[in-house]
Amino acid sequence: MAKLKIYEYPDPVLKQKSTAVAEVNAEIRKLLDDMLETMYAAAGVGLAAPQVGVLKRIVVIDTHDEEEGEKPRPLFLVNPEIIWHSEEQICHEEGCLSVPEQHAEVMRFAEVKVRYLDYHGKVQEVEADGLLAIALQHEIDHLDGILYIDHISRLKRQMLLKKLQKLRMGEAKE
Ligand code: NI
Repeated sequence: MAKLKIYEYPDPVLKQKSTAVAEVNAEIRKLLDDMLETMYAAAGVGLAAPQVGVLKRIVVIDTHDEEEGEKPRPLFLVNPEIIWHSEEQICHEEGCLSVPEQHAEVMRFAEVKVRYLDYHGKVQEVEADGLLAIALQHEIDHLDGILYIDHISRLKRQMLLKKLQKLRMGEAKE
């Protein structure tokens, strides 16, 4: 396995639409493994292929809570698709490895059902609420070139991006 470079805002790769995977083969499985390692190393909950510069419809997610003593439970999702969502929406604070150290509250569907191909290319469905439902919507957005900051008001986005710029200027000085 290998750790991959995470592309950050405003890299244009993050605004592109990803294409469907034709077959879950060894090459795709290697990418899934590398993405999972990259996500764990960055202490993220989810990672989408465009974030590592690959415009394919691939996502990895793991919402296990280490502090609660839970074991890792990685989800590998190829060509994920929301096939049902609740009427109810929830508001939750989100962050993104491509927008480092920033957070904002985003409205999402409270529950979703997602169909996808698993690590072995088998069709699976997952019904989720809570953090997993949010992560699924956040990561599937990435596959269509949408970041969570696209869901917040212009004013909030400008403030957030200013803070990001400040953070980077601070890092450049070090
Ligand atoms: Ni993200």
